[in-house]
This record gives sequence, structure tokens and C-alpha cells, in this order.
Amino acid sequence: MTSEPPRDCRACPRLADFRASNRTAYPDFFNAPVPSFGPADASLLVVGLAPGLKGANKTGRPFTGDYAGDLLYATLSEFGFARGSYRADPADGLTLVGCRITNAVRCVPPQNKPVGSEIGNCRPFLSATIAETAGLRAIVALGRIAHESVLSALGARRAAHPFAHAARHDLGRHDLGSLALFDSYHCSRYNTNTGRLTPEMFKAVFAAVRDEIG
Ligand code: URA
Repeated sequence: MTSEPPRDCRACPRLADFRASNRTAYPDFFNAPVPSFGPADASLLVVGLAPGLKGANKTGRPFTGDYAGDLLYATLSEFGFARGSYRADPADGLTLVGCRITNAVRCVPPQNKPVGSEIGNCRPFLSATIAETAGLRAIVALGRIAHESVLSALGARRAAHPFAHAARHDLGRHDLGSLALFDSYHCSRYNTNTGRLTPEMFKAVFAAVRDEIG
């Protein structure tokens, strides 16, 4: 199984139709499944939800140009997981260090809301991404959907690992070695504007990850 869907992936008819209409409405946008960003030997994988229409779907790099990217990339830089300046542009020269970013759903969904079948259809790409990320020690799931999709991708039981902000789930050993799943509320505009997620809360998650992987 490949870790990247084809540009014209048709696994999700609703998302493929949305992509076609976006290619007409926004011909200069990327308008395709957004590939993972960062080295395949990363020890940390950050899993988001799905590209934003005028962010990652426009630029072709996860969280790039999305409001959520401002806090994510600033926090990754603070904890040494990114180097360079984030300028909401894939040509900004920013590099990830020991870190990779992917999305549970690779295509932009209408209203930022993928449906269950779309999350399931895209999971094989998440599973393949996890499998190919040799030396993976920690995953940060941004939000409940990412959390549940990661658990399913690894064959772990949801009842044994309920989603909770700042939780650390020991996923024991799997074929790649020991792996911990850290949960965070998604760093979306809604969550940060309402105070559900503060920058301090978000930083505390990455501080715990840094402690975990050294
Ligand atoms: N942009 C992404 O790429 N993923 C998200 O989860 C949100 C914004």
C-alpha cells in the first residue's frame, strides 16, 4: 500500500466532486490530496484532520496557509521540531526536524467536515504513513477524529484509549517498536478563539513529547 493517494483519487466520491468544483473555482490552488510533510525517519508524527480549503488545499503542504498552522508551526519551532521561518508558503524553506505532519483525511472536505466513510477510506494511507515512518516514537493526534483514526490504523481499541486533551496513551510495542500517542485539542481557529485550547496548553503537549523522545 502506498502512503500517498493519487492526485485524482476517487475513493471518496463526495470529496472527488468537491475537488473538481474547486479546480474550476480556484484553478491556481493545489486541489489534490495533500501529501505528508517531513522526513520519513521522523520520531514524531503529527496527525491533523484534513486540509483547509484556502490553506493546505491551496498550498499543497499540511497546515500551510491555514489558521491552525500559525500555532502549530510556531510550537514545533519552539520545541526544535522545525527549523527556519514559517511564512504560510511551501517555498518558505521551513524544514521539519525529526517530525512529520500528515492528515487523517488528505482531501479538503466541504465545511471542513469529513464523514465517517471518508475517514475510513483514507485510513490505509495513514496506516502506510505510520508504517513507513521508521523509528517512530510518538504521535500527536490533533482532535478526536485524528485520535480515533490513529488507533484504528494501529489496531488499538478505542475503549482502552479514550480521547482527552494532554492524555498520553501507551500503545505498547508494535512492529516498529514502542509508541506513545499524545492527544491535543485541535489547534483550530475555533478552539483557540474560544479558549478551549490556549497556546500554553498546546505547548505542554509538545513539551511532554520532547521529554518522551529526547
Ligand atoms: N490544515 C491541515 O492541513 N490540517 C488540519 O487539520 C487543519 C488545517
